[in-house]
Amino acid sequence: MKISRRHFLTGTAGAIGGTALVASYAGAIEPGLRLVVTEYRLAPPGWPRDFPLKIAVIADPHAAEPYMSAARIEEIVAATNALAPDLVVLLGDFEGNYRLVTRAVPRKTWAGLWAQCRAPLGVRAILGNHDWWYNHSPIRAAIEAAGIPVMENEAVRLTHRGRPFWLLGLGDQIAYIRGPGHFEGVDDLPGTLAKVADTAPVILLAHEPDIFVKVPEQVSLTLAGHTHGGQIRLFGYSPIVPSRYGNRFAYGHIVERGRHMIVSGGLGCSFIPVRLGVPPEIVLVRLGDVA
Ligand SMILES: [Fe+2]
Repeated sequence: MKISRRHFLTGTAGAIGGTALVASYAGAIEPGLRLVVTEYRLAPPGWPRDFPLKIAVIADPHAAEPYMSAARIEEIVAATNALAPDLVVLLGDFEGNYRLVTRAVPRKTWAGLWAQCRAPLGVRAILGNHDWWYNHSPIRAAIEAAGIPVMENEAVRLTHRGRPFWLLGLGDQIAYIRGPGHFEGVDDLPGTLAKVADTAPVILLAHEPDIFVKVPEQVSLTLAGHTHGGQIRLFGYSPIVPSRYGNRFAYGHIVERGRHMIVSGGLGCSFIPVRLGVPPEIVLVRLGDVA
């Protein structure tokens, strides 16, 4: 087929226009303006089917203007509270460190806003790799000063509707950069599991999903973030995933050998402020309560 110069130019202009449209969407609209609630309803092994528990999961906010301003966090907190969760968990990576940050959100401000999440069982946090790599101690101090307990290889026994369950918070698995692609964690899964003192069901919070290969059946559900779903995810595939296991743990509800994990696509951006096909999300997990 012969392509005329006019058709070629029209086609090229169309392609450039389309690319610019996708770039504006991925660079501004999806990361900065969209917000979705992704709901999972499940009764994994070990969790009683008649024991309903509603958990709101906030992962990877990476507070920094322009994408995660104080006003944006306020919006997310309001949307979280509107879900009326029983428990709110914050899965780490609280501040943004990417190159295009126009202004930081003060630590006291974002910590105070997350503390406005409301739930009968409270708000609990773990730290992520970005927290460790950049400002671990002041970030932890700000969260605790806002009244949110930070769990690091800790286990707490909570009671809901008169029934107990364990909430475990794992230390970060890549807390220290020891060389290119070489990390050292502060995670202690055996030590954390050893704190579970009875047979009540167990939920594990872990910033990175990679720990899942080592999580025993005793844990009914692992909740993780970190991957941002790859930040670009099309047709269920993410080309770049910060996980040793690639797409296996990139996003969503993963079931392996009867064990369950939910990986949140998170809310913010790390390194490259772009999102495409994986809009910022609040994850709402409804445990038990299945038909
Ligand atoms: Fe992370």
